[in-house]
Amino acid sequence: MMKFLLFIFIVSLSNAAEPISPIPLENNADIKKAQLGKELFFDTLLSKDNSTACVSCHDVYTGGADSRVVSEGFANTKGNIQAPTVFNAKYNFKQFWNGRANNLKEQANGPMNNPAEHNMNPKLVEERVNALKAYKEKFKVAYGVSNIPYDLVLDAIVEFENALTTPNAKFDKFLRNEVELSKEEKEGYIIFKQAGCIICHNGVNIGGNSFQKMGTFLEYESNNSYPDRAEITKKEENKNVFKVPTLRNITLTAPYFHDGSAKTLEKAIEIMSKYNLGQKFSDEDVKKIVLFLGILKGETPEILEKL
Ligand code: HEC
Ligand code: HEC
Repeated sequence: MMKFLLFIFIVSLSNAAEPISPIPLENNADIKKAQLGKELFFDTLLSKDNSTACVSCHDVYTGGADSRVVSEGFANTKGNIQAPTVFNAKYNFKQFWNGRANNLKEQANGPMNNPAEHNMNPKLVEERVNALKAYKEKFKVAYGVSNIPYDLVLDAIVEFENALTTPNAKFDKFLRNEVELSKEEKEGYIIFKQAGCIICHNGVNIGGNSFQKMGTFLEYESNNSYPDRAEITKKEENKNVFKVPTLRNITLTAPYFHDGSAKTLEKAIEIMSKYNLGQKFSDEDVKKIVLFLGILKGETPEILEKL
């Protein structure tokens, strides 16, 4: 399997320039809708006991993810999975670790109705937002409606997420020939490509575009109860398969992996190379890979800067 992937990869390399592409500089999110979505994203009104908002588990002022191993939501219920970042999520081909949502709207519908997260239902959401004059007025301006349907609440949140892109990482500038990398950053990128990380982490999100097995070389054991891809597809070969996570802004989103088992990037690299590449890097090479991953940090999304 890996040999085959490697073959495909080498073939595609000979055709394409770089296997990673920069985040587009233009963000065409509708700003009125996105601002409204931002308010909703921060509003605990969207949880049954007014305790939880999207931002409770996706801290957009760090990396858009959760620094806890697993998130806690409604009535302090502990989840069974690490919360990934909402930054650049629009570039993922599917949402959730096991890819069970096809797009951001389907995704947002999940936590809203999840008893362990917001614990709401569409009717209750509608009642709450329609009871507030401020929301009524803002939806009127952004969408031209005088009654707010649940679907538009999700739509506004998705538009906010569409605005959460992080362009202009040093590495993106390098890809556009605007800056040079330091010697060690460049070496880190070369190792990343030559060792094979790039087979799974590529494209605009440096991940987010395929499902891959955690443990292609060595069976990965985790006592985490989260349903893997096999539970969605009912196919045995999808055991321990997950959506490859993005590596953009990765220095900001510890802990790592679906089970949150790696606290540092060094540890994540060690586990990845052991289980998915069957090799061990020298400390010096790990350091260079970390430096390369560091320059994948982009700019703070503009929408977070203005209120
Ligand atoms: C209680 C914590 C919690 C709350 C509240 C929460 N999330 Fe999440 N979010 C998570 C966890 C955990 C996952 C991973 C779940 C999975 O993959 O099955 C996730 C996954 C996501 C993803 C998918 C990212 C990816 O790469 O697959 C997006 C997008 C997202 N959440 C947006 C939202 C939005 C929008 C809200 C508010 C409506 C929200 N979340 C509320 C914890 C939370
Ligand atoms: C065969 C595909 C594959 C290869 C090769 C691979 N990865 Fe991964 N990577 C994954 C998958 C799948 C996950 C998610 C695994 C999980 O959470 O259980 C992941 C997760 C990660 C994470 C954690 C991201 C997060 O948000 O939690 C990092 C960091 C990472 N990989 C870096 C690397 C590096 C560096 C290399 C090369 C040394 C590499 N990967 C090679 C598929 C791969």
